[in-house]
Amino acid sequence: MADVKMVSLTIEGRPVTVPDGMSILEAAKTAGVLIPHYCYHPGLPVAGVCRMCLVEVEKFPKLAPACATSVGEGQVVHVHSPKALEARKGVLEFLLINHPLDCPICDQAGECELQDYTFAEGRADSRYREPKRFNPVEDFGGDVLYVQNRCILCTRCVRFMSDVAQEPVLNVSERGDRAFIGKAEGHDLTNPWAGNVVDLCPVGALLSKDFLNRARAWELDRAPTVCTGCSQGCNAVAETRDNVVVRLKPRANDQVNQYYMCEVGRQGYREFNRRDRADQPLVRRGNALAIAEWDDAIASAARALSGRRLVVLASPNLSNEALFLLERMLVAVDGAGVFRLERGVEAPLPGAPDLALRNERAANATAARLLGFTETEAVGSSLGDGDALLIVGDQLDGIGSADLDRASSIVYVGTALPASLEARAVVVLPITNIVEEEGTLTNLRGRVQRFLQAKAAPGVARPTWYVLADLLAAVGGDGRFFMPAEVFAALAATHASFAGLDYEALGLRGLPLVESGTPADTAEVTA
Ligand code: SF4
Ligand code: SF4
Ligand code: FES
Repeated sequence: MADVKMVSLTIEGRPVTVPDGMSILEAAKTAGVLIPHYCYHPGLPVAGVCRMCLVEVEKFPKLAPACATSVGEGQVVHVHSPKALEARKGVLEFLLINHPLDCPICDQAGECELQDYTFAEGRADSRYREPKRFNPVEDFGGDVLYVQNRCILCTRCVRFMSDVAQEPVLNVSERGDRAFIGKAEGHDLTNPWAGNVVDLCPVGALLSKDFLNRARAWELDRAPTVCTGCSQGCNAVAETRDNVVVRLKPRANDQVNQYYMCEVGRQGYREFNRRDRADQPLVRRGNALAIAEWDDAIASAARALSGRRLVVLASPNLSNEALFLLERMLVAVDGAGVFRLERGVEAPLPGAPDLALRNERAANATAARLLGFTETEAVGSSLGDGDALLIVGDQLDGIGSADLDRASSIVYVGTALPASLEARAVVVLPITNIVEEEGTLTNLRGRVQRFLQAKAAPGVARPTWYVLADLLAAVGGDGRFFMPAEVFAALAATHASFAGLDYEALGLRGLPLVESGTPADTAEVTA
C-alpha cells in the first residue's frame, strides 16, 4: 500500500485512516460504525438513491449521503447527531407510507433491514392515515417472486442484473409513488446467477419460491460451509432448521465468490437431506447385509481389502483430509486410486472476475489430482480380476455391473448405499456428508478452504476422515488421528504444496496452496 495516499478523519469520535477515495460509509465500517443504508451494496455500483445513509459532516452545507461521499483529510463525521437522525427518521417514514406492515407473514422478517432500521431509528407510530397502495405479487420466473408492496425501490436488483449478471431484464418502471420494479417483456429471471437478487434485496420484496414459508429467520442455525456444486468453491452458509438444511446462502469472499452463489449451488442443499441414508455399519452374513458394531465392521473391511491389489474409487467431493487418508491407505496396501468427474456447461458471472459455475461439477478434483488419484471415465478399466474395491462417496456413474463383478470384494464407505451394491458390498461403512462434518476442500485455483459442521449425522454414521483413519489403522497404516485438524496437519507436514497451512491460518476464507496448480505432489509420503 506504499503508494496509496491515506486520509485521516474522525467518524463518530473515532479516528480512522483509510485510502483516499473510499466512501465515508466504508470508512465507518473500519471504525466499527454502521451507517444505515439500503441502496448501497459493496458488490454493486453506487446509486445514491435511498438517502438512508445521510450523515452530518462538519463544514458541509447540508447532510451528505455516506455511500456517495468520499473521505477527506480532517473530516469530522457525525452519524448519530440529532440532524442526521431526524433526516433518516424522515426517510423511514416515507418508505413506510406504502410498505405493508405484514412482518408476521413476511419471509424476510428477522433479517429485514427495513425492520432493523425502523426499530433502531424510526418513528414509533405512523402519521399516514390514507389507504396504502396495493399491487399483486408477481412471478419473476426462475426461483424469484416479486412482492411489489414491500419494494423500497433501492434498485439493488436492477443493478445486479444489469452490471453484474449483465442481463438487464429488470428496470424501474413508472415514476413517483407509482414506481415499481419491472421485468423486460418476454424475459424471466432464469439466469443461473439470478437468485442473488433475493439475497441482495434488503426487504422482503424479492423472495425465493423454494424457501417460501419454510422457516422464520430466528429459527435457523447457521454454519459456514463451501459449496460442492463445482470446482469454484463458493463460500456459503448452511442454514438448518430442526437438523434439516433449508437453504444455502453465499458467504462473502472477495477471493472466490464475492457475495454470490449460482442456482446449481443453491439447490444443492437437497442432497444433504436425503432420507435413504446409510446410518448403521453393515457386514455381509450369508446373502444379507446385517447390522454390525463399528469395530467389527472396520475389522471386516480391513480383512476384505488386504492381501490383494486395492482399487480406491474416491468421490472428487471428498475433503482433503479424506483423500489424504486414502492416499496413505494406498501406500499401506498396494493399489491405485481413481476418481470420476461429472461435467456440465460453464456459466460465468460476467461482472465478477474469475467467478463461474465451472464445468467440473465437483469441489475437490484439484486435491484428488494432487494426492495422486487418476481421473477416469471408465472406472472398470482400472479394476483387474480379483482386485479389492473400496468405494468412498456416492458417485457410481461410470462403473457397471460387470466391472463390479470382477472385484473379489467391495467395501462401500458412503452416505446412501446404491442399489447396485446391495448384493455385492461385503461391508458398508456409513459416513457423514459435508454439512455433517468438518474439513477442508481445495478449489480450482488451489485455494484451501474450511467447512464446519452444520447438522447432526443420522444414526451412528461417522465423519469420513474418522472412518478412513480407523480403516487405515486396521490395514496397518498410521491412522492415529483424533481431530480433523490433526489429519490436515499430517497432510501439510508431508506434502509440499500444503506446507505451512493449518486450520487456524486458513480461518474461514482460506489460503492458496504454496504451489497452486501443481499437477502432482512430489513430497515423499510415508504410511
Ligand atoms: S425488489 Fe428489493 S432489491 Fe429490488 S428495488 Fe425493490 S427493495 Fe430493492
Ligand atoms: S459456482 Fe459452483 S461452487 Fe459456486 S455456487 Fe455455483 S455450483 Fe457452487
Ligand atoms: S445507501 Fe446511500 S443513498 Fe442509499
